[in-house]
Amino acid sequence: MTVSSRFLRLGVNIDHVATIRNARGGRFPDPVRAAHLAAAAGADGITAHLREDRRHISDEDIARLTREIDKPLNLEMAATQEMLDIALAHLPHACCIVPEKREERTTEGGLDAAANFERLEPIVKALRDAGSRVSLFIEPDPRQLDAAVELGVPVVELHTGRYCELDIAGEFGMRDAECERIASAAAHGASRGLEVHAGHGLTFETVGPIAAIAELAELNIGHFLIGEAIFTGLEAAIRKMRNLMDRARAQAMAEPA
Ligand code: PXP
Repeated sequence: MTVSSRFLRLGVNIDHVATIRNARGGRFPDPVRAAHLAAAAGADGITAHLREDRRHISDEDIARLTREIDKPLNLEMAATQEMLDIALAHLPHACCIVPEKREERTTEGGLDAAANFERLEPIVKALRDAGSRVSLFIEPDPRQLDAAVELGVPVVELHTGRYCELDIAGEFGMRDAECERIASAAAHGASRGLEVHAGHGLTFETVGPIAAIAELAELNIGHFLIGEAIFTGLEAAIRKMRNLMDRARAQAMAEPA
């Protein structure tokens, strides 16, 4: 079996169920219930970002997710001592290190792994030694992939935000070029032994060309699915995303190289 025939996993990010809950305080809607539903609808894993300002997911959510769900949990976290301590206390299946700025609305841009080598190295080591699968959320840039290899992480996640923004702006020529950049970064990462994931901003419209990239093993998708759940329900939204991903990957595999 070649790398390109690999099944494409879907990680569902449930942060924005917590955003809606926190708009009123209290307990509803419950992100852990959303995680159970996502698993039943075909998610292969659950992703949650515990931000330093706790604007959506809370410490208690992370504790409950590690206790209650039976799919792998991917904890997105900033490279800080506080987040490292929390990750080590709960030991999620995977930890994805992301850049974090308080003033940003969402994770803008990837981690500069090359420039932050010294700061990242002990955090990566501590998480790896504890048995968590560490990934770095980076731009699709060979320099960043090479820094990830140097840091000894097994996984990287490529930021698809720019590709999705170009879709919204109708800049399809530039979007195709950005998709090419993601594809060649994925191929570079796989050739260097990394497992390559991708995510951020993906929708029903934008997921196909990304899912078709044979070297990608996993996509992480949240905001669009939670929004779509308002109209069709979470289960239907996830099932449709899953089908679009599977169809795009199957089509790409059937095409002559
Ligand atoms: N991957 C990473 C590393 C992220 O930080 C996020 C957003 O939290 C996502 C994927 C999912 O992005 P979106 O919610 O836009 O689908």
